[in-house]
Parts: sequence; structure tokens; C-alpha cells
Amino acid sequence: MAQSAFIQDLDSRREQARKHMMKGAVTEDYTENRATILKLLNEALATELICVLRYKTHYYTANGRGTKAAAEEFWEHAQEEQEHADRLAERISQLGGEPEMNPDILSKRAHSDYHSGGDTLEMLKEDLIAERIAISSYREMIAYVGDQDPTTRRILEDLLAQEEEHADDLVDLIEHIAE
Ligand SMILES: [Fe+2]
Ligand SMILES: [Fe+2]
Repeated sequence: MAQSAFIQDLDSRREQARKHMMKGAVTEDYTENRATILKLLNEALATELICVLRYKTHYYTANGRGTKAAAEEFWEHAQEEQEHADRLAERISQLGGEPEMNPDILSKRAHSDYHSGGDTLEMLKEDLIAERIAISSYREMIAYVGDQDPTTRRILEDLLAQEEEHADDLVDLIEHIAE
């Protein structure tokens, strides 16, 4: 019967939980793809940190048509990308990995590019491209993680939803300036 099989399983699960207690959230049944998941999370972390810097630069140097509305959005996005970075770093730590924040490594690992210079319209376009890259990367990561790690998947899904909002906000601003 399925129920007794589960109870037997529960006994060994109790034993494993005790045995490897100091692995914290990483239980014995955690996917064998932990290294790959950590690698993906660190790539996402690098991307988010580069996005924080790009939005901050854009906030401080915005100029030309549409600057006031765009600067508010640059500021808000910078804060939200920082929150994304923190959620990823926290998850990497929970999984026993090390959140990589070495600036020499970040720009090589990030999926989207840093950008500075130009006028507000150019900045908005560069940010939109970066958001679209982040959106497709998160979608791919979510598909990979699948049922292997529901907590990581949920975090990635939250971030994806917010990147989609960011892309939508940027399109609105670009349209507004172009009018
Ligand atoms: Fe983000
Ligand atoms: Fe974003």
C-alpha cells in the first residue's frame, strides 16, 4: 500500500534529516543538478547587479526629451533590480553556494550589457533591450528548474513577472517621448 511505503520512506527521511543537519535547506533528495542551478542563479545575480548600475547611471545622467518621467522610472527600476539581486543572493546562500559579487567577474557573467551615455531616449531603448534579454533568460531558467526546486522556481517566476512590467513601462515611456 502506498501509505506504508511512505511511512517507511519517512523513517529514512528522518534519519537523513538528522545526519546531514548542517546542510540546512539542502536535503538529501535535492536535485543532483545543484551545481547547474547555482551557476544559473549566479548568472542571474550578475545580470541584476549590472542592471542596478545601468539604471543608476541612467538616473543620474538622463537628459533631453522625457527626462523627468524616465528618471523616476530609472530610479524605481534600480531599486527593484537590487531587490532581485538580494533575493537571488539569499537563495544561492541557502543552497550552500557563494553569491558572486566580484566586479571583475560580473560584467563577463551577466546576460545583459552595461550602458551609459546618450540621451534619455537612447537609455530607455538600451534598458528595454536588457529587460527583454532578462525576460527570455528567466523563462529559460524556469523551464530548466521545473519541478526540481519549487522555491527557486517561484523566485525566478516573481522576477520574471517584474521584468515584464519593466519592459512594458519602458515601451510606454519610449512611445510617450516619440509622440
Ligand atoms: Fe531584475
Ligand atoms: Fe528589470
